[in-house]
Amino acid sequence: MSILKDYLKKAIDGEFSATQKYTEFADIAQNEGFSNIAYLFKALTAAENIHIKNHTNALKEEYQPEVEEFTRGTTIENVKDAMEAEFWESKTMYKNYLKEIKKDKKNPLLKVAQLSFEWARDVEYTHYQALKLALKYIEKGKDLDYSEIYVCKVCGDIIFTKPTEICPICGHDPAFYFKVKRN
Ligand SMILES: [Fe+2]
Ligand SMILES: [Fe+2]
Repeated sequence: MSILKDYLKKAIDGEFSATQKYTEFADIAQNEGFSNIAYLFKALTAAENIHIKNHTNALKEEYQPEVEEFTRGTTIENVKDAMEAEFWESKTMYKNYLKEIKKDKKNPLLKVAQLSFEWARDVEYTHYQALKLALKYIEKGKDLDYSEIYVCKVCGDIIFTKPTEICPICGHDPAFYFKVKRN
């Protein structure tokens, strides 16, 4: 197994686990009456699925991811948990993965894997920021004040207003954003 493929698989495991976790967190938020925070978790799930797709394209083979264990709390706890995870993925995990895969310098898949990791690294920080905003609201007992969320289908960037400019992460045209369905 190559170093590069090993890290792509690890990243797919992490992203897949996040989709499982956020799907449950969305249900919990909905049950607690925070429907816009539930919607945010759905948007994050859509974004992590884009990372899985990009990493899988780089891997060039079928891979069945392993789900990591996670704990479920109240919505405020779940938002904090997700914030911490996104921050760690952006500032530590992907940063380290990028360093490691460079050692596989003769691998022809390196370029595409690098791009996929760089986008994911930068996008996870936008996820962290969106969750940080959600936390501000929920700490006051309020639901998030945004009812439309758009995701860049190339890289997974998320924004709360109709896109008018190119994606700040991957540079694609605003037409590449899609509005996340609420249900
Ligand atoms: Fe994320
Ligand atoms: Fe993008």
